Amino acid sequence: MDIQIIRAKTLKPKPDQNNLGFGRYFTDHMFLMDYDPENGWHDARIVPYGDLQLSPASAVLHYGAEIFEGMKAYRRPDGQIQLFRPMENFKRLNNSAERITLPEVDPDFVLKALKTLIDLERDWVPSLPGTSLYIRPFLIGTDPFLGLHTLQKALYCVILSPVGSYYKEGLNPVKIMIETEDVRAVRGGTGYAKCGGNYAASNRAGHKAELKGYSQVLWLDGVERKYIEEVGAMNVMFQIGDTIVTPKLTGSVLPGITRKSCVELLQKHGYKVEERLLSVDELKDAMKAGTLKEAWGTGTAAVVSPIGELSYDGEKYTVAGGKIGPLTQWLYDTLTGIQWGKTEDPYGWTEIV
Ligand code: PLP
Ligand code: COI
Repeated sequence: MDIQIIRAKTLKPKPDQNNLGFGRYFTDHMFLMDYDPENGWHDARIVPYGDLQLSPASAVLHYGAEIFEGMKAYRRPDGQIQLFRPMENFKRLNNSAERITLPEVDPDFVLKALKTLIDLERDWVPSLPGTSLYIRPFLIGTDPFLGLHTLQKALYCVILSPVGSYYKEGLNPVKIMIETEDVRAVRGGTGYAKCGGNYAASNRAGHKAELKGYSQVLWLDGVERKYIEEVGAMNVMFQIGDTIVTPKLTGSVLPGITRKSCVELLQKHGYKVEERLLSVDELKDAMKAGTLKEAWGTGTAAVVSPIGELSYDGEKYTVAGGKIGPLTQWLYDTLTGIQWGKTEDPYGWTEIV
């Protein structure tokens, strides 16, 4: 399929790289393509960034027919631009599509389309330390029809946003509250898919946590409310004694690409990593006994984010003295060294655009 390119007549001024925040600025163009059963995916196009026109009856607006991805393009020290494990994102997009019964995309084609779009927006990829171009592909059901039915029509779109750090804390530790009332996902539900509905289910607890001064909540499993799952926008890892423990992928946790990369990096460097069920009681005991050495979150937006305080059942526990611990710092440096092209990539994870 060819990609039609319609260029913007005027280009926007670029934002100050020192003050990007997360997801506040968007580049000059976006990628779109449409799906219907007769034509399959068609009309691939890059057009000026702007509002979408949708029927108010569209399935996405009523029944949450939406999935998305989050990835980044990085400016290397030599000025080139690179992606980090992009195929992993497109595979996960298709897993999410299968769960919501939205049409799957051709991973090779959407990667080619993404590279074409980034190539056009080269100047938008920031270069200051800690910055990158966040990539948000999303896929929505557009059938203009209120009956519940198999989804037929869809739109795939990619928008780009130059970003700094996700949390206002930057690389300083974040405070996380363990949520004991609301749940995010259950096995058999959509937890492993990256769909908008999971985030809607998370909003209330996230809001309550913010009001109490916490950045996000740490979810417990939806059945027993006993096992640690993940944080609102990241997977979690704990260094307990000399072992790194991360919740296993039970179906209600998002299989993070940063999580997978961190597990691989830690193992390759000789650390003992356990992907297993971790109960909140075990974590509490480790916090009380002082065997919880470090805790951090992993995610594309959040990168490797130290956790400095955990609250559970009204009690506050300081982790690693409220500072970034040595292992978290090593993991951050090692992962971002590869992502930003500052160190060699021995794993073939990066792809030049
Ligand atoms: N868990 C949730 C709920 C997320 O939204 C994200 C962000 O994408 C992650 C985990 C981390 O996934 P990844 O490392 O693929 O970005
Ligand atoms: C990402 O890390 O890419 C995400 O999708 C998290 C999002 C909630 C900002």
